[in-house]
Amino acid sequence: MRKLNVLAASSMAALLAGAAAAEPQVEVLHWWTSGGEAKSVAVLQQEFAERGGTWTDMPVAGGGGDAAMTALRARVLSGNAPTAVQLKGPAIQEWYEEGVLSDISDVAEAQGWSEVLPEAIAGHMKCEGAWCAAPVNVHRVDWIWANAKVLEDAGIEMPTTWEAFNAAAQTLQEAGVVPLAHGGQAWQDATLFEVVALSLGGPEFYKAALVDLDPEALKSDQMKAVFDQMRTLRGFVDDNFSGREWNLATAMVINGEAGFQIMGDWAKGEFAAAGKTPGEDFLCASAPGEGFLYNVDSFAMFEVDGEDRVAGQKLLAELIMGPTFQETFNLNKGSIPARTDVSLDKFDSCAHTSSEEMQASADGGSLLPSYAHGMALRGAQAGAITDVVTAHFNSEMSSDEAVQMLADAVANSM
Ligand code: BGC
Repeated sequence: MRKLNVLAASSMAALLAGAAAAEPQVEVLHWWTSGGEAKSVAVLQQEFAERGGTWTDMPVAGGGGDAAMTALRARVLSGNAPTAVQLKGPAIQEWYEEGVLSDISDVAEAQGWSEVLPEAIAGHMKCEGAWCAAPVNVHRVDWIWANAKVLEDAGIEMPTTWEAFNAAAQTLQEAGVVPLAHGGQAWQDATLFEVVALSLGGPEFYKAALVDLDPEALKSDQMKAVFDQMRTLRGFVDDNFSGREWNLATAMVINGEAGFQIMGDWAKGEFAAAGKTPGEDFLCASAPGEGFLYNVDSFAMFEVDGEDRVAGQKLLAELIMGPTFQETFNLNKGSIPARTDVSLDKFDSCAHTSSEEMQASADGGSLLPSYAHGMALRGAQAGAITDVVTAHFNSEMSSDEAVQMLADAVANSM
């Protein structure tokens, strides 16, 4: 192991020496614009500058990254791709197949990425055997967040079943508090839906329906029960939910206007940026039932000309996988490091829960990719599902109609 590190260090030095003549430049497209997100990406910008690089920022606001992905397509089509892009899941392989992504295997091999990444994460970062993306974190999606004081004042505990959640939400509603902080945007509806699907239906159902797209699972009574719970949740959001950004929904929980939010742990980045402490000001609990929905943020490098830009890509890939960067970044971001060798000593209790349950789920076969955050499916299939989920959430559509529409939409997207 020691020998390996020495080798890794010397080949890394050689690699960087080759690029040393050029001053590293990057233009980075990402969608990290909320308070917690901006604080997180600033860590990378600072490290990049400290190593002599010039960073041109291209933030495209819009949680979940839909707007960023539209901006990316426009840039690539006009022959002017950004040097580095926040890109995730199968979209990485889709772009690689279009022949526009750089192979960053030299950096990955020099730094020994395979030694420090869980296999499932490493798999997402590879394209036809080559390393084509660098991971920064593991976000967990299936979380329930709550304002501790709001719950205490209403005499309710953090719910551990959906019956208990619905009853608690009812109590809050009667007390004049918004039960569920939510933003009516398609990706947020999809986030609720996948959490309910895993939590109510269990890991096998989630996998059959939202990873394998099994028509029987899509049309099943279990899926009807998922849409029933979505209808119940719709009754717990406030009248102004339409179009609200996720971080503004988190702010409602932070300031006590709302009791709960169901959202990935980027929400914790907002609590942290507001100086709030888990267990005291806010509570985190994984959604009822088994399983862990993961969402890994990563960056891919697009084929560009110019030694300075290539040097920028190599430096960025190296920094992203740096152990100290992964610690600081994830403390701000709400996620846990992608590297398994970073100590969690400085992390809070929610991060410890995440790490322990991720390991247990990996051992028990219930570590599952988030469809709503682009980890499970290609764009066409994920989009088809989200369209139905949003149409159902924003209408009076019955669960019977929704499952039929879901199965048809998925079949038509293949
Ligand atoms: C990303 C997170 C981001 C969140 C809200 C998710 O898809 O993985 O990094 O904070 O969207 O924008």
